[in-house]
Amino acid sequence: MPWRVGPDDRKAGVRPDPYRIWLSEVMLQQTTVAAVRAPFQRFTDRWPDVSALAAAQDGEVMAEWAGLGYYARARNLLKCARAVAARGGRFPESREALLLLPGIGPYTAAAIAAIAFDEPATVVDGNVERVVARLFAVEAPLPAAKPELAAFAARITPAARPGDFAQAMMDLGATICTPRNPACGLCPLRPACAARAAGIAADLPLKMPKPEKPTRRGIAFVGVREDGAVLLERRPDRGLLGGMLGWPGSDWAETEPVPAPPAPGAWQAIPGEVRHSFTHFHLRLTAMSARLALDATPARGAFLPRAMFRPASLPTVMRKVHDLASAAFAGD
Ligand code: ADE
Repeated sequence: MPWRVGPDDRKAGVRPDPYRIWLSEVMLQQTTVAAVRAPFQRFTDRWPDVSALAAAQDGEVMAEWAGLGYYARARNLLKCARAVAARGGRFPESREALLLLPGIGPYTAAAIAAIAFDEPATVVDGNVERVVARLFAVEAPLPAAKPELAAFAARITPAARPGDFAQAMMDLGATICTPRNPACGLCPLRPACAARAAGIAADLPLKMPKPEKPTRRGIAFVGVREDGAVLLERRPDRGLLGGMLGWPGSDWAETEPVPAPPAPGAWQAIPGEVRHSFTHFHLRLTAMSARLALDATPARGAFLPRAMFRPASLPTVMRKVHDLASAAFAGD
């Protein structure tokens, strides 16, 4: 992982860069290490330190974040970068002070304090919860068991190398102490693991059943002007996909959507649909496309010249709509 500093470099006096630790931890929330590698590289190539990121334009950062999801994180990332740049570009060094920065919650503050500044803060994510639930055979179900699991994790957090400890626990959870079929035969904690001894490792942690997600429906409008310009709309800063570019469309609701095209044109339904799951609902989107006249004046959105249009800068659900509607772009 490109943000890590190995033991040999550590001995040679290399310190983890708080900027890279912060950026990696924010990216890793709700996302896997594999999904973060490429965007982390792009971000750090383009903005090598926190002051460089602070000076970026909002739209550039949102475009680079596309695909990582949970876009409020990107908006808070920029707010945090600007707050740190305003204090001279140095991150505060304690968990408590880090917590005062925008977008830094208990998990991220503890992770940065432990990994970048060697504070013996306890870092608890889903992987760590699973490892601890098994190690101590905690049979209370999540989420109610969270405080108990955090207390166990705190009990075993060492004063020495707390950052390495935190990352070792996360790595154990990601690679060996996995949700299903844990590889107990390979596990260095096996002799100490109470759930393993009781034969219940794979059953823990227990979870309260989650309520089913509802399914919402909507229509997205893919409008391409005669000169190839693409009709896009920036979503409001607050709310789902806030601040991201997308296709104008209907509201997303559990009722049948009503088509209300954003510009006059011969809109045609595209066969098929896009499915995408958000935290609180599943979405099924149909799409309509049209070639729009050069003098079309849209009621919503604005035309983006084709040379500036990068489908990879759209949030994933909007990129899926682009892919479904790709025939609308053929021949341009
Ligand atoms: N998940 C979140 N942060 C991590 C880290 N520093 N190492 C491994 N997995 C992680």
